[in-house]
Amino acid sequence: MTAITCVEDFRQLFQRRVPKMFYDYCESGSYTESTFRKNTSDFDTVNIRQRVGVDISDIDTSGVMGGAQAAIPAGLAPIGMLGIQHPAGEIEAALAAKRFGIPFTLSTMSICSMEDVAEATKTPFWFQLYVVKDRDFVRDLIHRAKAIGCSALVVTMDLPMLGQRHKDVKNQLSIRPNLRNMLNIATKPRWAMGMATTKYRSFGNVIGHAKGVEDLSSLLVWAAEMVDPSLDWEDIEWIRKEWGGPIVLKGIMDAEDAVIASKMGIETIVVSNHGGRQLDGAGSTISLLPQIADKVGDKMELIVDSGVRTGADIFRARALGASGVLLGRAMVYSLGAMGGEGVSKMLEIMRKELLITMGLAGVTSLDAITRDCVYKQDS
Ligand code: GLV
Repeated sequence: MTAITCVEDFRQLFQRRVPKMFYDYCESGSYTESTFRKNTSDFDTVNIRQRVGVDISDIDTSGVMGGAQAAIPAGLAPIGMLGIQHPAGEIEAALAAKRFGIPFTLSTMSICSMEDVAEATKTPFWFQLYVVKDRDFVRDLIHRAKAIGCSALVVTMDLPMLGQRHKDVKNQLSIRPNLRNMLNIATKPRWAMGMATTKYRSFGNVIGHAKGVEDLSSLLVWAAEMVDPSLDWEDIEWIRKEWGGPIVLKGIMDAEDAVIASKMGIETIVVSNHGGRQLDGAGSTISLLPQIADKVGDKMELIVDSGVRTGADIFRARALGASGVLLGRAMVYSLGAMGGEGVSKMLEIMRKELLITMGLAGVTSLDAITRDCVYKQDS
């Protein structure tokens, strides 16, 4: 196998090793996928100023993100079903984040339960909360996260309805494969062997906890009905009271919504369009970040996700007003390709890319990365 030198190499290996329906689940956006595409291509339109003649022999890529010191200004994003991309995927990714020194976020729709991850990592992580119709279940999730010492609650706001991803419908995505998917799985022996031997096989946060969800088939019925279109700012107030700790609101794409969050006293938001998987036609996150930073950047911490594939992208996000980024697909590609070892390798690649970008841009600390360090094509 040729050397892995970048995130794109992981994507290709992930595609070869993991069943098509799970690869497609990761590598799609909703509807025409225009937002999904823009998320990455718009990063390329942010040019970085090349500066010379600066002593760059001592560069520090570390800084504070989400209230904690991090080796690079990044965390691992909440992604559903990591445990289907790789056996014990959530535990593997969380351990890689711990080794590297960045935060890990566990999705509500994970395979390994939050208790499994806490037990295996012995390190606080962020828990991502889906606000579903069954509020008793939501309350229970919040209190379980509190009981195991999660350090932040990441509340997803951009999924009050599900944006359709055509490939998932066509593939009949399910963790119970149909015949066509079974035939494809037969061509992925490495994945199949791993899955045959893992004990983590169902949605650990949900099964046995949500009312009436005892097995996989009842979970599928529940999941189809769980999305709550009534989610509003009052629910966020309720969640805040139940939780009582740091809240990160994820899925804010509009300066007016950021102002509402800021007026409520929310300390951190994630500028995110759910990786282009929800509102197709929404702008890219990197293009909207500056206007959100102009409105609330001095009042709250901004994290950005959706489209970050390189250390240079982390630099761009930082320059345009984010304290850091969440890595979603970059994590899934590397995890699906090579498990936790892949995630560690991906993070090292990101660190090196960030370090070299900083050096060639003539800055030696994250605080020195300012808007002045980047420019649009036409300026
Ligand atoms: C759910 O969060 C998804 O993006 O699939």
